[in-house]
Amino acid sequence: MVRRAVLPLAGLGTRFLPATKTVPKEMLPIVDKPAVQYIVEECARAGIDDVVFVTSTGKASMEDHFDRRLDLEAALEAKGKEDDLALVRDLAGLVTIHSVRQHEPLGLGHAVLMGAGHVPADESFAVLLGDDIVDPQADFLERMIAVHERTGRPVVALLRVRPEQASLYGIATVTPGDTPGEHLISDLVEKPSPEDAASDLAVIGRYVLPGSIFETLRETQPGRGGEIQLTDALNAMAHEEPIVGLELDVPRYDAGDKLGFLEATVALAAAREDLGPDFVAWLRRWLEERDQ
Ligand code: G1P
Repeated sequence: MVRRAVLPLAGLGTRFLPATKTVPKEMLPIVDKPAVQYIVEECARAGIDDVVFVTSTGKASMEDHFDRRLDLEAALEAKGKEDDLALVRDLAGLVTIHSVRQHEPLGLGHAVLMGAGHVPADESFAVLLGDDIVDPQADFLERMIAVHERTGRPVVALLRVRPEQASLYGIATVTPGDTPGEHLISDLVEKPSPEDAASDLAVIGRYVLPGSIFETLRETQPGRGGEIQLTDALNAMAHEEPIVGLELDVPRYDAGDKLGFLEATVALAAAREDLGPDFVAWLRRWLEERDQ
C-alpha cells in the first residue's frame, strides 16, 4: 500500500517572474485553485493521506493554504456562505501535511531525500512534481501504484516528446513490458542533447518508488548541472534490474511553462460544470471575431 508522497516544491519559479517574486509558483491559480491543490487532491484520490512538502524560503503560504483559517471560516459562517465555507475548511482535512526545508537548491534527488525523515525506509511512496498537472478526472497515479504493487519495481510516468525536447527531460532506454503502455527501462539519462537521446520517451513528474531509493540517493554523486539528480539514482536501480515506465495516456499540462500554464487554465476551465459551457461559448466567439 502506498500512503505517503513527497512533493518537491522548493523551486524559485523564475519562469514566472515577476508573479513569483513573492508568490510561490505552485500557488498561482489554475482557474480558482492553486496548482499545488491539484497535486494534493491527486494524492488524496490515489489513497495517499500523508504528504511531505519539500519547500524553501518564502513558500510558507503553501502550508497555510492547507491549514484551517478560523477568522475566514467564522466570517463565511456568519454570512451563511456554506459552500465557500466547505471549500476553505475541507482543505485542512484532505491529507496530513509535513513540511521540510531544502536549504539549498542541490537538485531534485536531494529534494526527494529531504523527505526521508517522514517515509519509513521499508515503505514505498509517490513523488509528484508540482509543474506537471495531470488531468484531474484521471486515475493515473492509482494505476502507477497498482503497477508498482504488482511488479515491486520503481514506476515512472513516461510521455512521448518531440526529439528537440529531449534536453528538457530524463530520457529512457526501453524494451516493451508485458502489458500495453508498460515499458521496461534499462537506462535513464537526465536531459541528454537530442542527438544523444536513446528514445522519445521522457520521464514526467510522477514516480512510485521503494523506500530503498533513499539509500541510493545518498550515494548518488552530483550529475547534470552539478545537482543530485533523481534520474541518476533511478538509473543506478535500472542497471540492477529494469524499472517500469507507464506511458501517460491522459492529458497532462506543463504548468511550469507559460504556454502549458495557459493550456491547463483553458482545458480545466472548459471541463468545469459551472464555468465550462459559458467559457467555451465565449472562447469560440472570441476566436471567430479575432480571425475575421
Ligand atoms: C525534472 C526531472 C526530469 C524530468 C522532469 C519532468 O526536471 O529532473 O528528469 O523529466 O522533471 O518534468 P525539471 O523539469 O525539474 O528540470
